[in-house]
Amino acid sequence: MKVCITGVAGLLGSRLADYLINKNSNIEVYGIDNLSGGYIENVNSKVKFFERDIVTDNLEDIFNNNFDYVFHFAAYAAEGLSPFIRKFNYENNLDYMRFLSKNGIEFERLIVPEVPHSAVGIYAKVGEQIMRFHVKNFRDANSK
Ligand SMILES: NC(=O)c1ccc[n+]([C@@H]2O[C@H](COP(=O)([O-])OP(=O)(O)OC[C@H]3O[C@@H](n4cnc5c(N)ncnc54)[C@H](O)[C@@H]3O)[C@@H](O)[C@H]2O)c1
Repeated sequence: MKVCITGVAGLLGSRLADYLINKNSNIEVYGIDNLSGGYIENVNSKVKFFERDIVTDNLEDIFNNNFDYVFHFAAYAAEGLSPFIRKFNYENNLDYMRFLSKNGIEFERLIVPEVPHSAVGIYAKVGEQIMRFHVKNFRDANSK
C-alpha cells in the first residue's frame, strides 16, 4: 500500500508517518513538506521525502504513484491565530482540491457547520479537567 502525507515534517504528519511505518512494513510512505514550519529531523528516514510547496510547486511526478490514501496536514497550525487566517486556510484548501480534481484524484469534501471541531474550543471547554488530569499524574509520579 502507498500513502502520501502532506506536512510530513510537522507534528501530526511526522507522527502519522512513524505510526504507519512501525505498524506495517508493507506501507510505503511518501511525504511532502516545504519546511516552512516543520523540521527535516522530524521525518522518518523510511519516508520518501519531497521538499515541495503544495500550492506553488508541481506535484505531478509524486502523484503519479497512484496512492491508496493521501493525508493532508500541510497548513499553518496557528491555534490562537487561526480565526484570523480563516480565509488563507480556506483558499489553501481550495487550491489543493483543484489540484486533486485536475489530476483525477478522488476526494471527499466534508463541510461541517455547527459541529464543534476546534481544538482550541475543546481545550477551552475541558481545559481545567485536562490540567487536573496532568497535575494528578505528576503528583502520583513524584510520590513514587
Ligand atoms: N496539532 C494539533 O493538536 C492540531 C489539532 C487540530 C488541528 N490541527 C491542524 O492540523 C494541521 C497540521 O497540524 P500540525 O500540528 O501537524 O502543524 P505543524 O505546523 O506542526 O505542521 C504543518 C506542516 O505543514 C507544512 N506546510 C505548511 N504549508 C505548506 C505548504 N504550502 N506546502 C508544503 N508544506 C507546508 C509545514 O512546513 C509544517 O511542517 C493544521 O491545519 C492544524 O491547525 C492540529
